[in-house]
Amino acid sequence: MTSYVDFYRQSIDQPDTFWAEQARLIDWHKPFDRVCNHDRPPFVNWFEGGQTNLCHNAVDRHLADRADQAALIAVSTETGTEKIYTFKELQVEVQRMAASLKALGVKKGDRVLIYMPMIAEAAFAMLACARIGAIHCVVFGGFASGSLASRIDDATPKVIVSADAGSRGGRVVAYKPLLDEALRLSGHRPEAVLLADRKLAPMALVAGRDRLWTELREQHLDAQVPCEWLDSTAISYTIYTSGTTGKPKGVQRDTGGYAVALAASMKHIFDGRAGETYFSTSDIGWVVGHSYIVYGPLIAGMATIMYEGLPTQGMDGQPNGGIWWSLVEKYKVTAMFSAPTAVRVLKKQDPALLRKYDLSSLRALFLAGEPLDEPTARWISEGLNVPIIDNYWQTESGWPILAIANAVEKKPSKFGSPGIPMYGYNVKLLHESTGEELTKPGEKGVVVLEGPTPPGFMQTIWQDDERYVETYWKTLPGRMVYSTFDWGIRDADGYYFILGRTDDVINVAGHRLGTREIEESISGHALVAEVAVVGMADTLKGQVAMAFVVLKDAALAQDAAAALKLEGEIMKRVDTDLGAVARPARVRFVTALPKTRSGKLLRRAIQAVCEGRDAGDLTTMDDPTALQQIRDQVAAA
Ligand code: PRX
Repeated sequence: MTSYVDFYRQSIDQPDTFWAEQARLIDWHKPFDRVCNHDRPPFVNWFEGGQTNLCHNAVDRHLADRADQAALIAVSTETGTEKIYTFKELQVEVQRMAASLKALGVKKGDRVLIYMPMIAEAAFAMLACARIGAIHCVVFGGFASGSLASRIDDATPKVIVSADAGSRGGRVVAYKPLLDEALRLSGHRPEAVLLADRKLAPMALVAGRDRLWTELREQHLDAQVPCEWLDSTAISYTIYTSGTTGKPKGVQRDTGGYAVALAASMKHIFDGRAGETYFSTSDIGWVVGHSYIVYGPLIAGMATIMYEGLPTQGMDGQPNGGIWWSLVEKYKVTAMFSAPTAVRVLKKQDPALLRKYDLSSLRALFLAGEPLDEPTARWISEGLNVPIIDNYWQTESGWPILAIANAVEKKPSKFGSPGIPMYGYNVKLLHESTGEELTKPGEKGVVVLEGPTPPGFMQTIWQDDERYVETYWKTLPGRMVYSTFDWGIRDADGYYFILGRTDDVINVAGHRLGTREIEESISGHALVAEVAVVGMADTLKGQVAMAFVVLKDAALAQDAAAALKLEGEIMKRVDTDLGAVARPARVRFVTALPKTRSGKLLRRAIQAVCEGRDAGDLTTMDDPTALQQIRDQVAAA
C-alpha cells in the first residue's frame, strides 16, 4: 500500500502525473493532450483536448459488465414505494428523458432547470442532460417561489423539469403552484415545463407550455439517444449556493475533471466498489446529492439508493427510527453518507434499533455538511462499530477537501476533526488580516486553498468570472488564494478542526443559508424598518436562524398579541419567499440594532449574545442599549 503522505505529495508536487493516472479511472472518447492548464490563474482547465461524457461513465459503460445489476434504487417512505432500476433499465429511462428533452427543443449548452422531489425521474433528468450536453441546474425542492424565481432568471433555462408535488412526513407539498408563482415572478420564460405527475396534488397545466412526462415518455419508449461527446472543459451543471450577498451564486462545474474527481474519490476516500450499494441520505438539490447520490456511485458501478422521506418514518408511514438501518440490511449497503443532524435525530430513537438489523455489510459511515460534535460521533461510532469519517467540503469543491482516505492508507480519525487535506488540495491556514501563513499547531486562521484547484472544483461562477475572482480569490491580503470562508486550526499531527464560517453564511441542519437572503425577505414586510439575522447554536440542527426586527412603528411590538401575530406573518413571508428551510426559529422585536458608528451591523456581537458568549470588543459600537435589548430578548425567550 502507498503511504498517504507520498500519495498526497505527488498530487501537489506533480499534479500532471498524479491526475493523468487518476484519469484512467474513467472512459475517454478522445484522450486529453494536456492535464492541467493553469496559465490564467485562478482559472484551471483540466484534461484539455479530451472528450468524455458523464452519463456514459455513469451508465452506459457499465452495461458490458453489469447491465442487470441494480443501479438506482428509489425508495419513498412518503408514498410507500420502492423500485429498482438496473443499469440497463436506467439507460432506457434516461434515453426516454433525453429524447423528450430534445423534442422540447433542448440542445447542447442549453440549461434545464430541475425542481423536483427525490424521485427517480429527477435522476433521469440529470443524467439525460449530461447525456445530451445540456447544463442542468437543480434547485432544492425545499426552496419556495422567490428563491426559485431568482435562480430561473439567472440560469435562463430552456426547459424546466418539475413534478406535481413532494411530500415530507406525510404532508404533501405541492410544487406546481410554487413553480407557477416563481414563473410569474421571474422575467425569464422557459419554452416548456415537463412535469412528472405523482398524483399527490392536483395540477393545472398551462396550455402550450406544460407537458406531462408520462405522455412524452410514451412517445419515446424505444428512443436511442447516443451520448454526446463533450470537451472535458464543457459545463456539466450549475448549482446555486448562498454567500455573503442576497444574490445566490451559480457554482459551475466541468465535465471531465468532475468525472475524474468523483471516480477517484469513490476509490480512495469512499472505498466504493462496483456491484456494491451506496446510500447517501442527502437530496439532489444539494451538492452531496449531485456528487454522491447520482454521479459518484454510478460512475463507480455501484447501486445508489435515492431516498424520499424522514429518517424516522417507515414504508407504512408509521414512525420507524430504524428505517435507514433496514435499508442498509436489505440492500447490503457498504458505504453510507449522511449529515450530523440526521444522526442527532436518530440518537433520540431507541438505541436497540441499531442492533435490530444486520449491518455487517457496512464498512464506513461518512458525515459532512456541518460540524460533527463529539457526543454524536461517539454514539454512532459505538452503535455501528465502523469508522465514522467526518469530511469537510463545500458546494464549490464538489468533493471532500478534508477527510481520511482510508483506501489509500488507513489512518485514525480524531473526534471533532474532519481529518487531513485530501490529495489535490493545497490547504493552508492564513491570518485573516495579514494574510500570513500560520504554521504553528493550534493557531486559528482562515482555511484557504492554493491554486491550482483540483479536478471537480468549480470552474467559475456561472456567467460571472469577475465575481468568482473577487468573491473567492481576493479576500486575503497579499496573495491570490481561494478562501473557504471557514475558520480552522490544525494540530501537531496535521489534523484540521473547523470552527465555523468567517462570513454571514449559516448552516441549519446541514443546509447552507445566507443570512442576507433571509434579511431581504423579511425587509420586504411592509411594517419592517430593519432586520438582522444571525445563526445561533442549536443542539439538534447545529444552528438556527434568529431574526431581530426593528419595526417602522415601534409601539406595535409593545402589544404581545400584535407581536405574536407579526412574528407569524414574518415567518410566513420567509416560507413563501425562500422556503421553510430558511424560516427563522424566532423573530424578536427591538427598537435599534447594534451597529458601529459608521453604521455597520455588528452581527458577530449579536450572535455572541444569542449564544451567551462574550460579545468581544465593542468600542466601535454606536448605541450600547441596542445590544442590551438583544440580551433581554434572548433571556426572555
Ligand atoms: O462551513 C462549512 C460547512 O459547510 C460549508 C459548506 O456547505 P455546502 O456548500 O452546503 O457544502 C456541503 C458539502 C458537504 C462549509 O464551508 N461544513 C461542511 N462540512 C463540514 C463543515 N463544517 C464542519 N465540518 C464538516 N465536516
